[in-house]
Amino acid sequence: MLRRLTTPHLVRLLGEWRGGGTAYLALAAALRALILEGRLPPHTRLPSERALATALGLSRNTVTAALDVLREQGYLASRRGTGSWVTSPRLPDDRPDERLAPASDVIDLTLANLPAPTDLGVLASRAASALAREFGGHGYEPFGLPAARAAVAAYLSRRGLPTTAEQVLITQGALHAWDLVLRAFARPGDRVLVETPTYPGALDSLRAHSCVPVSVPVGLDGWDLAFMRSALRDARPRLGYLIPDFQNPTGFCASAAQRVAVVREARAAGALLVSDESLAELWIDAGKRPASLAAKDAGASVLAVGSLSKTVWGGLRTGWIRADPEIVRRLALARGSQDVGSPVLGQLLAVEVLPRLDTLLDSRRKLLRERRDALLKALTAERPAWRAACPSGGMFIWAELPHTTSASALAVRAVEHGVRVAAGPRFGAGGGFEQRLRLPFTQPPERLAEAVRRLAAAEDTLGPRSSTGAPANRWIA
Ligand SMILES: Cc1ncc(COP(=O)(O)O)c(C=O)c1O
Repeated sequence: MLRRLTTPHLVRLLGEWRGGGTAYLALAAALRALILEGRLPPHTRLPSERALATALGLSRNTVTAALDVLREQGYLASRRGTGSWVTSPRLPDDRPDERLAPASDVIDLTLANLPAPTDLGVLASRAASALAREFGGHGYEPFGLPAARAAVAAYLSRRGLPTTAEQVLITQGALHAWDLVLRAFARPGDRVLVETPTYPGALDSLRAHSCVPVSVPVGLDGWDLAFMRSALRDARPRLGYLIPDFQNPTGFCASAAQRVAVVREARAAGALLVSDESLAELWIDAGKRPASLAAKDAGASVLAVGSLSKTVWGGLRTGWIRADPEIVRRLALARGSQDVGSPVLGQLLAVEVLPRLDTLLDSRRKLLRERRDALLKALTAERPAWRAACPSGGMFIWAELPHTTSASALAVRAVEHGVRVAAGPRFGAGGGFEQRLRLPFTQPPERLAEAVRRLAAAEDTLGPRSSTGAPANRWIA
């Protein structure tokens, strides 16, 4: 069923959309930004082209040309007699802003990953030597190689979460783990609790499974527990996806008391919680570490997801789910129509890496501390008006821009200045966060300083509250 949108309402949403340049492209970009931010949800019918043209003081041809652009990009559909309506935004397969970027020397802040540690090559050679021993078998391991499951179980137990190999399923990273949980436990239309803001990849998976997000606000001081309670009790979500440790994008780390409260509420509501612990080991400032959300769970209502992507290297594509053995079995079955199992070579490398992870992490934390401090220093020097809290771990600063700057507009302009960055709206299930920019501190200090200089130069070229199209960054990590 289509929802109607009046002409004055759309004009109000568009605000100051004329940023200079060709009118039809600017209008298309502004409408696209509204669609991507969730402010023009799918199934919203736009006013007629004639009404819009009159209200905006444009020729009908200009409005038609703008809508043609959106139709071509898959954001709008039209039918004679019905008009035009918003379709579910299909994010482009490539990076659409790539073409606009200077040919070289773009600093990409949309991805938060460290380069591989230097010793990884040696460990990879050892894994490759061990591969020959596996050749006699079939190579399909939906639960994971026994050695890899045992290595993850030993690692988690060392971290204070006693785990047996039967409780472990090896996946191709944390995002794959979450997708597998959705595949096994969610049906189209099911409600799924998520933090807002949250990791965009998790939201994309949820949409791909046609689930409905139930958003619970999270800030630097933590989850809004009252909101969490009412969301769990009233919306009765089947699943919840939380990032309790150094959350992407806020950097927030839940206290032990918050963890206990959330697990208790989820159990009472019968929701299965997924605790994405991809960033849990990346604490930077020493202090008491709260235990895994799964450690607070006496039953089978928390699935802990982990990955080597953030701690070691994104290209490993190796992660895991730690859950009750019966849940592990269901997840392994759900793999039958998907990937059947993780690549054996990657699992053998995990067997080499996991026992050495604590040593590797010492140098990762040192690197992240230097880079976090360098980013904060650059922000203080170049953009004192931006507010940037210092996270005690993880990889991100969730910078708050002055209310005169739109993060989407800045992200678009930044590409012209040689920086690609993820604007706040990409992190909310229904958009929002137009005052926020996620800045990862995974690049070397001098690159971060240069990125901030370029962002500052880009912001200086923006008019007050310029509203251009949000860059539809498909790949955000
Ligand atoms: C919280 C969170 N979970 C999962 C991922 C993706 O992890 P993986 O590469 O293991 O799929 C990311 C990447 O940014 C992340 O921030």
